[in-house]
Amino acid sequence: MLNIVILAAGQGTRMRSAQPKVLHAIAGEPMLAHVLRAARALAPERIVVVVGHGAEQVQQAFAGQGLQFALQQPQQGTGHAVMQAMPLLQGGADDACLVLYGDVPLVQPATLQALLQARGLGGLALLTETLADPAGYGRIVRDGRGRIVRIVEHKDATPQEQALREVNTGILAAPLEPLRRWLGRLSNDNAQAEYYLTDVVGLAVADGVAVSHAQPAASWETLGVNSRAQQAELERIWQGVQAQRLLEQGVSLADPARLDVRGTLHCGRDVHIDVGCVFEGAVRLADGVRVGPYCVLRDADIGAATAIEAFSHIEGARVADAARIGPYARLRPGADVGPEAHVGNFVELKQTRLGRGSKANHLAYLGDARIGERVNVGAGTITCNYDGVNKFQTVIEDDAFIGSDTQLVAPVRVGAGATLGAGTTLVRDAPAGQLTLSRAPQETIPGWSRPKRKP
Ligand code: UD1
Ligand code: CA
Repeated sequence: MLNIVILAAGQGTRMRSAQPKVLHAIAGEPMLAHVLRAARALAPERIVVVVGHGAEQVQQAFAGQGLQFALQQPQQGTGHAVMQAMPLLQGGADDACLVLYGDVPLVQPATLQALLQARGLGGLALLTETLADPAGYGRIVRDGRGRIVRIVEHKDATPQEQALREVNTGILAAPLEPLRRWLGRLSNDNAQAEYYLTDVVGLAVADGVAVSHAQPAASWETLGVNSRAQQAELERIWQGVQAQRLLEQGVSLADPARLDVRGTLHCGRDVHIDVGCVFEGAVRLADGVRVGPYCVLRDADIGAATAIEAFSHIEGARVADAARIGPYARLRPGADVGPEAHVGNFVELKQTRLGRGSKANHLAYLGDARIGERVNVGAGTITCNYDGVNKFQTVIEDDAFIGSDTQLVAPVRVGAGATLGAGTTLVRDAPAGQLTLSRAPQETIPGWSRPKRKP
């Protein structure tokens, strides 16, 4: 049985923020959400999050996710934090307790698996690293035969111990029942007057429990966030990791350093993404999609061979195969663009279906509309879908031609093959196959001259 405890009670003073540290985001998601994803990949019986500073905010943000919360108030060290979780944990001597940090967001499941493996049956395992500059970290102290004997915190270390470069990342896996016992024996007689979780190592050794170690697959996995600068650094690292994964999958990136994925991006074969694009939520790009520079796509599904041109903004929308979107197009939630359709510059779609082969190429607002196939929507067309209180539908049937600068005052229907003259304000249905227009008569005033300035 696996129990996971995530420490998230610390204040994060150096973030200089009203928000608890673990709610600060990496790739658009709270750091704690990243840790939870790694934790859940191990299929634990139980996850307990130890909260303290901003406890309510953290609990609210993660309510209804099957987590348990332990309150640590005040914060008296990492050992004290794990103690608060103990009443919620279950299992015996053979069961494991894995301790993670809420502010170490990039740790990967494979590394945690390796740590659990290293622990063996009933042992204690530490995730350690060897650093060129170990300052600030707890040091791994080994005996003459290379066996781990204890951890000494930087502030408590002698100059000789400070010279040790193998450090404690803070992540460890312990046998549950012995851990309970060791935690009960911790003292806070140290430089920080805290109950150190790291002191359980010495107690395990005294009890004859085997202490082993594992190392993270990549050193960025154990980087912590204590400041905005470190947050920004981890953001870049994580974006780089995601870009590399996309390249390995065969996605072509104009510049892997100028791509931001905040969520999940699924790409088919031969997808090309130009510089400066941001992908949020769940985005799917089918085979052969090309995304131009500086586009934002959030929760979008883009069909094969479709081109999204520069500076387009797409949210909650679906685009079918071989369509052309942008440059400067905006697809809002409920936009549903059919195959081979075109949505051009400064065209906005909301809750609107644009059928196969239909075109809205310039300057239009199409909201709450159902537009058939092969429809031509002229420049400046606007669906007047809102009376200030309610929204109404516009229906445009197949093969209609909507002249430029037309207002469609919904609810209204344009029949199949109908033509609307430029500048029409359509307030009643336009019959199929006929020309409908509303136009003020054009006048020319003979002999008119421009006003003159008074002397
Ligand atoms: C800890 C380790 C140190 C290790 C380092 C790695 C101890 C005593 N020391 O030191 O060996 O090298 O991490 O970064 O464990 N937290 C609580 N409640 C508390 C104290 C901390 O929830 O009372 C949480 C923090 O929010 C944070 C984590 O535990 O997520 C680590 O706390 P931090 O103060 O950063 O530990 P360090 O002193 O850096
Ligand atoms: Ca720390």
